[in-house]
Amino acid sequence: MVVKVGIVGLGRLGKIHAENLSKKIYNCELIAATSIVDEELNWAQKELGVKYLYHDFDEMIANDEVDAIFIVSPSSFHPDQVVKALNKNKHVFSEKPLGLSVEDIQEILPVINSSSNKFMLGFMRRFDDSYRYAKEKVDAGEIGDITLIRCYSIDPSDGMKSFVNFAKNSNSGGIFSDMSIHDIDVIRWFLNSEDSGVNRVWSLGNNVAYPVLNDLNELETGAAMLQLTDDKIGMLVAGRNAAHGYHVETEIIGTKGTLRIAATPEKNLVQVMNSSGVVRPTSQNFPERFQQAFMSEEQYFIDAISNDTEIEIKAEDGLYATQVAIALQESYDSNEIINIKGGQ
Ligand SMILES: NC(=O)c1ccc[n+]([C@@H]2O[C@H](COP(=O)([O-])OP(=O)(O)OC[C@H]3O[C@@H](n4cnc5c(N)ncnc54)[C@H](O)[C@@H]3O)[C@@H](O)[C@H]2O)c1
Repeated sequence: MVVKVGIVGLGRLGKIHAENLSKKIYNCELIAATSIVDEELNWAQKELGVKYLYHDFDEMIANDEVDAIFIVSPSSFHPDQVVKALNKNKHVFSEKPLGLSVEDIQEILPVINSSSNKFMLGFMRRFDDSYRYAKEKVDAGEIGDITLIRCYSIDPSDGMKSFVNFAKNSNSGGIFSDMSIHDIDVIRWFLNSEDSGVNRVWSLGNNVAYPVLNDLNELETGAAMLQLTDDKIGMLVAGRNAAHGYHVETEIIGTKGTLRIAATPEKNLVQVMNSSGVVRPTSQNFPERFQQAFMSEEQYFIDAISNDTEIEIKAEDGLYATQVAIALQESYDSNEIINIKGGQ
């Protein structure tokens, strides 16, 4: 079966999904796109041969030829668009976060869970080869019981201009909902948590190099301590100002060993030896670092539709990740420790 896809949002990430879906993913045809930007629609038509172009999402989902929708619009639109697309009998892939409030997500959960169509959330790190390899080692008990997980997600400094535009035009939800959400999901995934997996959190943040972010209610650097189930520990650093590139790193400390994923954000296996010393080039942005993960998650979703297989990432994963991200923001805003499940 060839799955016919429509996409909403052709911005930083929408273009990547669109290009993959039209050129690289098997059993998939990108036939429709919605954006409010004409240049983006022209690009989709000229470069990707997309047949149906829309300014209005509701018109795209009314197209009976479309089997599945990729939602890559600003985060605040996700809950509404997920429900509308499912109600029009489409399979739905939504970018993270599933919503910007717990209430918004709780409201749409019954619609997602009672639908006979497929739903998937874009937690693409679960599809990254290195994260999958590490997960297999952890599940096989190779590092014993997990005691601490430390995660860094820091955007490159040269992405600041595009981030400021993004934050001016849409609500990112703040650094914890926008960036740490992946780390929260990774922690829950490694711990096989059935709920949020977090008892309480304490967050800090600052804007040192880019005070412009104060006016946008955004943070350049955020950090948090998480008390996880069974007194395990989570440590998060999120940022927008890594001079050396796109820095995503995860460390998992266990009773019998430690695993580090991408301890330095290496671009490839090359070392450059020159007057600066021995230089390891680094990944410069999320499309470069997670190119394989994006393609694997897209293929997984299309295959799940074609073969009617179950999707591992559930809407509840989106709910719990957002619940923790919001607690992190609340902790920063109030300068208080926030209890999530009534922890001690
Ligand atoms: N998985 C990841 O690592 C990752 C990375 C980046 C972004 N994202 C998520 O993807 C989503 C999009 O982020 P982005 O950085 O591509 O944003 P962006 O601002 O670059 O693009 C937003 C797109 O949505 C379109 N749009 C805006 N309003 C619209 C409307 N009313 N109707 C239809 N289209 C509309 C815009 O035309 C644009 O094409 C966000 O939810 C973000 O959290 C995920």
